[in-house]
Amino acid sequence: MANPSIRVTVIGTGYLGAVHAAVMADQGLTVLGVDLDQAKIDALAKGEAPFFEPGLNEVLERAVSSGRLTFTTNLQEAAEFGDIHFICVGTPQKAGSNAADLRHVNAAVDGLVPNLTQDSIIIGKSTVPAGTSKALEERIEEIRPRNIQVRLAWNPEFLREGHAVKDTQLPDRLVVGTDDDEVDARIREVYAKQIEAGVPYLRMDTATAELVKVAANSFLATKISFINAIAEVCEQAGADVTALANAIGYDERIGKSFLRAGVGFGGGCLPKDIRAFMARAGQLGVDDALVFLKEIDNINLRQRQRVARLAAEMLGGNVIGKPVAVLGAAFKPDSDDVRDSPALDVAATLHLQGAKVLVYDPYAMENAAAAYPPLNYVESAAEAVRDAELVLLLTEWEEFTALDPVALGELTPARRIIDGRNVLDPKKWREAGWTFRGLGRQ
Ligand code: UDX
Repeated sequence: MANPSIRVTVIGTGYLGAVHAAVMADQGLTVLGVDLDQAKIDALAKGEAPFFEPGLNEVLERAVSSGRLTFTTNLQEAAEFGDIHFICVGTPQKAGSNAADLRHVNAAVDGLVPNLTQDSIIIGKSTVPAGTSKALEERIEEIRPRNIQVRLAWNPEFLREGHAVKDTQLPDRLVVGTDDDEVDARIREVYAKQIEAGVPYLRMDTATAELVKVAANSFLATKISFINAIAEVCEQAGADVTALANAIGYDERIGKSFLRAGVGFGGGCLPKDIRAFMARAGQLGVDDALVFLKEIDNINLRQRQRVARLAAEMLGGNVIGKPVAVLGAAFKPDSDDVRDSPALDVAATLHLQGAKVLVYDPYAMENAAAAYPPLNYVESAAEAVRDAELVLLLTEWEEFTALDPVALGELTPARRIIDGRNVLDPKKWREAGWTFRGLGRQ
């Protein structure tokens, strides 16, 4: 167990901060979670996750009942609580620009630093443009109480929604940007459990640490758009992208993961991170270096249009008034996150074209309804599919990949399906009488 005399705060309790706070406390540290959102804090303080993340409720419950995890909305309380402060607030895309909006990061620093009562270390985990730490260090120097030393490190987070608990307990690697040996030693204490378990601890300068995160996400986005571009070619060439991806993936240099062709990537990270990276490269005078990411973004967004076009084609060229079932609203399975969700985007497009769209998702219905109120949200896959002229599988929840084509076919005489994630077996569905279309396959 980690040392409970280490007292840390976690500022921002979204998908990243809530999990980080819960896992750190569960592993033995004494943790105070901080957020402006009172409802979120109230839920967390009761040991309830304010969003769907497998395994989080159990860890939260354990941590809260151990007494090592508490929550507040008060940054001053946070400033007095301990001497290590993690910044886990969101850095969304700025309105009207590709750049990252750093207002929450700045507000956290501005609210925390003047109230500090002991020498402290601030550890940024939010995804930020290269150079942010340097700018924040200058800001901290201006606003810190004169008798108090405040040092800053950057420690980006690589957790995936849906696997966030495991990714935090046992990440692939720890990336720590600091040029200060004492700060490095304290961070090693915080992550004692992970280091003991053999997780590689990679120390570097802050600019490199900031860049590691956006470079990693850009690489992942590039892999997905690469295979989606190949899928477009496969369709025209009469080839099958799933067989192709499997075959190229045997080459260890390529690998099989993140080569699933489909409706493309979404969520709160990949889309905005590649855009913010391009914007930052522009500011640094190296826009040319990342021009390719614009094409990665284009290929990705094109997949949503391709699915909407394919839907219209399967419905005889006109979707007006036709009942269409959309299975999935979350941007990926095992998450209730609908930020920039390809599934919802396609559902909204078909709705705007006049289709009668019925959406079902096992966990993301509430968030989806808040994001796109005009769609029809129903309580089950069966209800969405009943009498649909077309079914679109757009988020690969296990509940959907396990659907039985024979039983489902009895509900919907039209028996047309688009597998927007290439997770169903076309042969099985065709044998059950379905007109089956995947992406990048015949
Ligand atoms: C991502 C990174 O993986 C993670 O390391 C980082 O910390 C945050 O951003 P996340 O946004 O949770 O995590 O989702 P991820 O699993 O990366 O998936 C992103 C999107 O790509 C999803 O919409 C998913 O459906 C899609 N995807 C993924 C594909 O379309 N094909 C694939 O082969 C893999």
